[in-house]
Amino acid sequence: SDNRSVAIVGGDGIGPEVTAEGRRVLALVAEKRSLPMKLVDGDYGVEAYEKRGRMWPEPTRVAMAEADAVLFGAIGGPAQPLPPEMHRTDSLLAVRRSLDVFVNLRPIKTAPALYEASSLKPRVLKGVDLIIVRELLGGIYFGEPRGVETLPGGERRGVNTHIYTSSQIQRIARFAFDIARTRKGRVCSVAKENVMEAGQLWREEVQAVHDNQYPDVELTHMLVDNCAMQLVRAPAQFDVLLTDNLFGDILSDSAAMVTGSLGMLPSASLGAVRADGRRGALYEPVHGSAPDIAGKGLANPIGSILSVAMMLRFSLGMPEEADLVERAVSDALEAGARTIDIAVGRTYVSTREMGDAVASELTSLLN
Ligand code: NAD
Ligand code: IPM
Ligand code: MN
Repeated sequence: SDNRSVAIVGGDGIGPEVTAEGRRVLALVAEKRSLPMKLVDGDYGVEAYEKRGRMWPEPTRVAMAEADAVLFGAIGGPAQPLPPEMHRTDSLLAVRRSLDVFVNLRPIKTAPALYEASSLKPRVLKGVDLIIVRELLGGIYFGEPRGVETLPGGERRGVNTHIYTSSQIQRIARFAFDIARTRKGRVCSVAKENVMEAGQLWREEVQAVHDNQYPDVELTHMLVDNCAMQLVRAPAQFDVLLTDNLFGDILSDSAAMVTGSLGMLPSASLGAVRADGRRGALYEPVHGSAPDIAGKGLANPIGSILSVAMMLRFSLGMPEEADLVERAVSDALEAGARTIDIAVGRTYVSTREMGDAVASELTSLLN
């Protein structure tokens, strides 16, 4: 239908601060394009738990289920006073599982305006344009058995289980190969098959999907420890990085520094297209609730704003507007707007003022 709806869920810490700027950019696009769009705000997280006794209150659950897409901020309190049962039903993992979003896309692109903000040298940053395709519903995040148990004699044991099935690997592999066909046509699959049997299966299944359905795409394999090194040695070598849930989490925070800050990185989590044409779609910056800077107006909102661009592209059918949002961000950076994380000791603006700078560039681009 023409009437799109988006659930806006800021969450904890800097989540609400950065999401407010993403929301604004989305509302601006809707207004300028005279597109009816319903934005439904919902609370979630540790504060929601303190107020309502649920991290994921029912109205937010309904709003997320009914929306075409969710714009999410972050989760995580200063301490986590939550009962284990709440984790099982209301955690971010439970949200991802309930929306059935099995793929997490984390694009990482350098901009010359921010070379100075990166911890790496400009010659290493030149031409970096990669995307991490992270499996999001499997691996050690979800495997059973899990828990902490006390053994006879009093020794305690913490247990988590890393499991992948062939169908889980195949569907994420197909997603990565499809994306590679729209890019430079190269997939590097990252696992730890020298130690883990599940890693051997990962490699075999990815190779088989390649050989059977995507022989036109170039496929290489890399061990995850080497990949962590290659990402800071020569990140420009990568096009599509395909990896599991835990490795994707770790590698993306590390790769974030090529852009200058973790605060720059957006993500899209997507499910399979269902019979009614809809799919689960959750958009969130890669960073967390950043308790160290929360409530101070210091957070960089670009991760949330670029997540809105991904939403326009993948959920709202507005690829041109997605491009314009990305351009507005580059223009604002080129014009010198900097939050503290990318200011390299120079003058910086607040979260809100960075939102202003992007919104003002976007207004002229949309006119
Ligand atoms: P974090 O990502 O919240 O912060 C790491 C560092 O990056 C901090 O120094 C922080 O100030 C900085 N940073 C993060 N985002 C920034 C931004 N937008 N602008 C400027 N600086 C930014 O990771 P953490 O400190 O390890 O975790 C804090 C809490 O967030 C934990 O409870 C964790 O579980 C949770 N977390 C949630 C998500 C999520 O909701 N998707 C992701 C990661 C961590
Ligand atoms: C992320 C976060 C989450 C993850 C946490 C908060 C569960 O670190 O989205 O990168 O590990 O997936
Ligand atoms: Mn993470």
